[in-house]
Amino acid sequence: MRLDFLLRRFACATTVFIALAGANGMAKAEDLPGYMQPIVGGKFILYRPGQPTLDAPSVPVVYQLLKSIGHSTMALAEVVGPYLNSPDDQAWRGSMLTYRSRMKSALDGLDATPMPVEWRDNNRTILRNNIAFMDDCVTKGAVTFAALKTFSDKQAPFLKLDITWAAQTQVAHWMTVISDWKSMLGADWDRTYAVSNTIYVARQNNVLFSDFLREYLGMTGTKFGCGLAQCLSCAVIVDNPDGTSHTSPTCVVPAASFSGKSIRTVEGHAQNGQLSVQQKAFVEHFSFQCGYCTPGFLNEGQVLLERLAKTPAPRADLDTTIRDALNGHLCRCTGYVKYHEAVRAVILADPNRYLS
Ligand code: FES
Ligand code: FES
Repeated sequence: MRLDFLLRRFACATTVFIALAGANGMAKAEDLPGYMQPIVGGKFILYRPGQPTLDAPSVPVVYQLLKSIGHSTMALAEVVGPYLNSPDDQAWRGSMLTYRSRMKSALDGLDATPMPVEWRDNNRTILRNNIAFMDDCVTKGAVTFAALKTFSDKQAPFLKLDITWAAQTQVAHWMTVISDWKSMLGADWDRTYAVSNTIYVARQNNVLFSDFLREYLGMTGTKFGCGLAQCLSCAVIVDNPDGTSHTSPTCVVPAASFSGKSIRTVEGHAQNGQLSVQQKAFVEHFSFQCGYCTPGFLNEGQVLLERLAKTPAPRADLDTTIRDALNGHLCRCTGYVKYHEAVRAVILADPNRYLS
């Protein structure tokens, strides 16, 4: 069952991508059944203030071809794994022959794919090596560890090239998208709520959201502190569909986990060059020294203020409410009392709004 699924998934992926890019017109990915859907290299979404979301164009199809062919080798190693050194178990033969036939179709269609000659030659080698490995297994009637290791070692340098080219293609595409969006939005870029991407860079789908904000978007307000979800200097605001909000660390959470979500970072507090009421209170109370923890405190305080504006807290519970909200945020300069006093001052400046 597992073998059939994997073979079908990867065999279809490989051949479909080549068919998609064929010279006789592009097939539509959305017309394909689910298991044949291409791996499009991430979904990039722009969240603009007061406007509908905007989906970026997909990564060029050559990325999908490189990734798919690379996966075809990885899939082979995975599917023969359960049968290593088990000559009495021949259950793999039928499925492998089917996979071989699809691999051959992919090889035959390779010339129609849009990629540089060097890239095509590399992929031809990968596909041929795949087929040679399968032929060897079928001829000998066995899948041995030694044969698999030889095959893996042989493919490694070619796969490395595909991964490099795929990553370069994808990153260049997304950086162009961001550059185009910046030009399109002009000054509104600074008011943009968020940009999210599922970030399926080849074998790098564990890009952390804090890294994504800082390195991909240049939004350096979010600070990386402990990297262990312990200090919350990296916390951002997540706006839930029901109108509530909460903070989330970004240092241990993959960027993909935030895809499709509405996020506010510390860059969103000041509006039109004016500090927010809470930011002014932080300054007036000398809440921060080095300031490294301040973005996390600001976001947490903002979530608290918005919560109290909807559900005011009893006046008698004010200090406990603030303490509970800010609890968990670490300040290495030990500014806890000053942060507390600043948030308290903001609330007491408008008691009818925040207190019952
Ligand atoms: S850096 Fe994320 S919690 Fe410390
Ligand atoms: S002000 Fe320095 S860590 Fe908080």
